[in-house]
Amino acid sequence: MQAKVCSISMGFFTAPFLLVTRLPAVTLPAALVNVPPLLPPRSSFSSTRSLDRPSGCLSSGSAPLFSARWSRNAFVMANVGQSGDTLTEDSALVMNSPDDDDNKQAIVVSRKIEERCFASTPYIPVYVMLPLDVINNQGKMGNPEILAEQLRALKSIDVDGVMVDIWWGIVEASAPRVYNWNGYKHLFQIAGELKLKLQVVMSFHECGGNVGDDVWIPLPQWVTEIGNSNPDIYFTDREGRRNRECLSWGIDRKRVLVGRTAVEVYFDYMRSFRVEFDEFFEDGTISEIQIGLGPCGELRYPSYPAKHGWRYPGIGEFQCYDEYLQNGLKEAAKARGHPLLGKVPQNVGSYNSQPHETGFFRDGGDYNNSYGRFFLGWYSKVLIDHGDLVLSLAKLAFEGSHIAAKISGVHWWYKTASHAAELTAGFYNPCNRDGYAPIASMLKKHDATLNFTCVELRTLNQHAEFPEAMADPEGLVWQVLNAAWDACVPMASENALPCYDRDGYNKILDNAKPFSDPDGRHLSSFTYLRLSPVLMCAHNFKEFARFVQRMHGQWVPISS
Ligand SMILES: *[C@@H]1O[C@H](CO)[C@@H](O)[C@H](O)[C@H]1NC(C)=O
Ligand SMILES: *[C@@H]1O[C@H](CO)[C@@H](O)[C@H](O)[C@H]1NC(C)=O
Repeated sequence: MQAKVCSISMGFFTAPFLLVTRLPAVTLPAALVNVPPLLPPRSSFSSTRSLDRPSGCLSSGSAPLFSARWSRNAFVMANVGQSGDTLTEDSALVMNSPDDDDNKQAIVVSRKIEERCFASTPYIPVYVMLPLDVINNQGKMGNPEILAEQLRALKSIDVDGVMVDIWWGIVEASAPRVYNWNGYKHLFQIAGELKLKLQVVMSFHECGGNVGDDVWIPLPQWVTEIGNSNPDIYFTDREGRRNRECLSWGIDRKRVLVGRTAVEVYFDYMRSFRVEFDEFFEDGTISEIQIGLGPCGELRYPSYPAKHGWRYPGIGEFQCYDEYLQNGLKEAAKARGHPLLGKVPQNVGSYNSQPHETGFFRDGGDYNNSYGRFFLGWYSKVLIDHGDLVLSLAKLAFEGSHIAAKISGVHWWYKTASHAAELTAGFYNPCNRDGYAPIASMLKKHDATLNFTCVELRTLNQHAEFPEAMADPEGLVWQVLNAAWDACVPMASENALPCYDRDGYNKILDNAKPFSDPDGRHLSSFTYLRLSPVLMCAHNFKEFARFVQRMHGQWVPISS
């Protein structure tokens, strides 16, 4: 089987995900089925849009298979039934974990004991992401009747609201300061009438753009025209390749966009949105605004672009070769009194290198010497300063409303000393430094919620798929959760991968309301990726409804 992993340039996919080249949703080759089923059926993320195709329920073929995973303190092997998305109730085999020496005997129990009861736990609002193209490139709603029907269904199971991207490339498409909000107005009216809340995302990035993506929303045309004559407005890698997904942070304060700086452009857009949708702010329909801060809307460098050849679990590359960031680096070195430091390190391998193959990222490598530290300090500070600046303007534009920022879960190479993939993405988080605490305190300054992905990824799966990646999503989630909570920053989350099965939902619930947390801390909200015909089919919808109830702290029967 040829499993590709692609980076995510679609709106919200944030962690890289396995991509099996466009398989039809229903007929999966048997070979595909023989993987731990805790990852969602692969066909479902062959592309984002395939989710939205009315192809019926996913089935993962016919071969029965086993899955193994850690469940609190028991190692669970479950015989997974034919449908691939449910565990057979009483065939679960539970063995004690290896560190429990007293009882190594395997016992057969029903899976009941492994499911936590969430009755009377805190209420966590659940939002559902709308399809990427709910508003089309002409700025109109494609199918208002079908959408209204789906939204009614969501409302009927007590979903709190929906989330929608407000694409820069659609709204300010043609000319600077000319905004077309019509499609969104229509959508908001429908949601408002159903009393669904709205999480909106100020999406200043490109949507799609990879081979096979059906939805493609580039940056506004007037911006790409500027980019044609001045490509330094884009993030650039060492080979000089430009990344047109979003604007480089190097032009945040440079007046290169027809007389405006990049942050002025973002501010004007946000302000126009606030004014235009005043009634929805006033009556509380718009409950939260997430501010796009980089590629995929995330605060990170585009260090792992599939279109430039990156494949999971490559370490990625530094992205600071545009003229503006280069000048910034030189100035920082001068200010430090060592102009010679103003260069990007050279012994950093390339997109698909592994840490130990490089002089910079290997154990004991240059990342930890004075020069490495200077560079990484600068590189990560540019990221934090960008977030700081844009969020302070967002605060101004949306005075009184909740704002949020999203960071991605770069979990591969987490178990090595340098955390190479995080370093190239701008998270200065090697084993001897906490790279997320400074981000959390920057967010705290603006009372912004931290939105984090990958709560449902399991270390075991990652390990089974790519043992060499030394990934540790759970370790990363734990670190980031605590960085946020220590700074009193609320933490919201979304799933990075499609999820339809109880197992995946249980994992999300466990992370949303950590069992062992003495202070009973929990996520402030959860956004489900994403509304699609697959979600709406009866079995999946029922399972999802059950999940929503448990997120809300309601009692549900175990076997329902
Ligand atoms: C978190 O991010 C997702 C994806 O962009 C978004 O749908 C959701 O609204 C965000 N959550 C918050 C609390 O902003
Ligand atoms: C970083 O460098 C210092 C000084 O050489 C050394 O003592 C320390 O062990 C290094 N840390 C790591 C994680 O390599």
